[in-house]
Amino acid sequence: MPHLVSPSLLAADFGNLRSEVEMLNRSSADWIHLDIMDGVFVPNISFGFPVLKYISRYSTKPLDVHLMISNPDKFLSMFRDAGASILTVHFEGAIHLHRTVTEIRRLGMKAGVAINPHTPVSSLTDILPFVDMVLIMTVNPGYGGQSFIETSYRRVAELKGLINDNGYDVLIQVDGGVDQHNAPRLIAAGVSVIVAGTTVFESDDPAGTIEQLKSVHQ
Ligand code: DX5
Ligand code: ZN
Repeated sequence: MPHLVSPSLLAADFGNLRSEVEMLNRSSADWIHLDIMDGVFVPNISFGFPVLKYISRYSTKPLDVHLMISNPDKFLSMFRDAGASILTVHFEGAIHLHRTVTEIRRLGMKAGVAINPHTPVSSLTDILPFVDMVLIMTVNPGYGGQSFIETSYRRVAELKGLINDNGYDVLIQVDGGVDQHNAPRLIAAGVSVIVAGTTVFESDDPAGTIEQLKSVHQ
């Protein structure tokens, strides 16, 4: 399967949010990545339901919602109602992870689980049969514009091995410091969904950069 590109709106111009979403609609982006931060699970606060609903009203692409929040269980149906198609929770933030991902699927969304850079990939062994996607964080969550952590290639390859050995149907997503230079090696290691914020929105031609990320070959 060709890889997908999910631009992270965190790096967009929020003063022109509607035109940024319309640019993504016209681009070759597959999904739109939305980062929800609560100031507790991560040391930053981003945006919440009113903004998400507004984006959902104008977006023609599936909304890929990355929750960096404590107690995600309280809000799952609200994220569905706000337009999320893919809902990803953190391994480190969900105490009853199996219950959480099962509920996400019951609500009609794809379920993702994210892991921080220090969390062993092997921790996922028993949740893989129950999720649609694993998000390997390639920076510490909380901010856009950080440097890619080089150990991520090995972590992606290890996860790909676990998925293949067991015949699971699980996408691997990477998020943080991803650009045209590290994308080919990530895809070669087994990544199927690339998230990119700064690389896309700080370029002179965001739609052209998305197209470049789409046409990267391993
Ligand atoms: C970081 C977020 C990322 C962020 C990526 O906590 O999860 O989605 O927007 O931004 P870049 O691509 O700028 O590292
Ligand atoms: Zn993210």
